[in-house]
Amino acid sequence: MSRREIIVDLGDRSYPVIVGEGVASLIDDYLPSTARRAVVVTEAGLPFECRPSIDHAVVELAPGEESKSLRTVENISRLFATHGLTRADVVIAVGGGMITDVAGFSAACWHRGTAFINVPTTLLGMVDAAIGGKTAVNIPEGKNLVGAFWQPAAVLADTRSLTTLPDKEMRCGLGEVAKYHFIAGDDMLSMTIVDRIARCAAIKAEIVASDEREGGRRALLNYGHTLAHAIESVGAHELAHGEAVAVGLLFAAHLAHALGRIDDRRVAQHHQVVRSEYGLVSDSQWNLVRRLDPSELVSSMTRDKKAVDGLTFVLDGTSGLEVVVGVDPTIVGESLRNFLGQAVLHG
Ligand code: GLY
Repeated sequence: MSRREIIVDLGDRSYPVIVGEGVASLIDDYLPSTARRAVVVTEAGLPFECRPSIDHAVVELAPGEESKSLRTVENISRLFATHGLTRADVVIAVGGGMITDVAGFSAACWHRGTAFINVPTTLLGMVDAAIGGKTAVNIPEGKNLVGAFWQPAAVLADTRSLTTLPDKEMRCGLGEVAKYHFIAGDDMLSMTIVDRIARCAAIKAEIVASDEREGGRRALLNYGHTLAHAIESVGAHELAHGEAVAVGLLFAAHLAHALGRIDDRRVAQHHQVVRSEYGLVSDSQWNLVRRLDPSELVSSMTRDKKAVDGLTFVLDGTSGLEVVVGVDPTIVGESLRNFLGQAVLHG
C-alpha cells in the first residue's frame, strides 16, 4: 500500500500528516496516550467512517456552511459535557473543511484546549484545511472571523474517502492544488493522487513550520483567496471555496498585470494552468461570477480580516509570489470591473 508521512515541524507540537489508502484505520495509533474517551464530529450522510476503539460518542452535523457557526460549537460542547470529555481526551474530526474547522475550534475551546485529530475526507481538506491549525466558525459579518490557531495531533488523509467524492468537491480541491502549483511551480497533475496530496501537504507543512501564526510567509497560502472569500460571501456560497479560489487566482494575475508586476505571458500562463490544465472555472461558473456587483465585492474584501490599510493580496511578480499590503481599493475596483468585463475567459 502506497503511504506517505509528512511532519509539520512545530517543536513539541509537531505532528504527522499520513496520506494513503486505508490510513483512517490507523486512528488508534495516533490517539494521545492520555485519551480514555473520544468524540467523533462528522457530517450526516457521509459515506465514510472513522471510529476509534476507545469509548466514543458521535455527533453528526448537517452538511453545508450554515453548520459552521457558534451555535454548532455550543451544541458540540454540550455533547462533550454529556459524554464526560476531559482535557486529556480527544476530538476526532471526520469530514471536509467545514467539519475540521468547527470541530477543531470546539476542541480549542473545550477546557481551553483539548487534543484533536483531523481525518479529512475531501481533497480540499487533505491538501489545505486540515493542516496548519487554523480553526474557525463564521458569523453573519464574515467567514472564519471567530477562530483560533490550534494544531491537530495528527492528520490522516485516507484516499479511500475520495472515491465517493462528488465532482464539485473534487474541483474544489483542485482549486487549492492549482494554488500550490503557483507557490511551488510543481507539475502536480502528473503525480498519483497520493503523491499529489503528499506534495501539497509538504509545501503547506514547510510554510506553516516557518510562520505558524501568519506573521508573513504563511499568507502566501492565501493566493487567490482575497477575491475568493468575497465571491463566496457576496454570491451566497453558490460557488464553493475551491471554485472561488480558481477565479481568485485568475484575478490575482489580472491585478498583478494592472500593477505592472507581470507581463501578458504570465497572465496567459495562469489561464492555461487554471482553465486548460486543471479544468477549472467553467463558462457557467464564470457567468455566475460576472453577475456579482464589483462594488459589493470590493466592500466585502475591505471587511476581510486580513485587510490592513487598503487591501492585502498575494501577487505574482518577477521574483515570484509576494504578500502585498495596502493595495488601493480604487485600483482593485477598476481592475475587477475590467476582469469581470470579459465575456469569455481564455485558456
Ligand atoms: N488555508 C490557508 C492557511 O492555512 O494558512
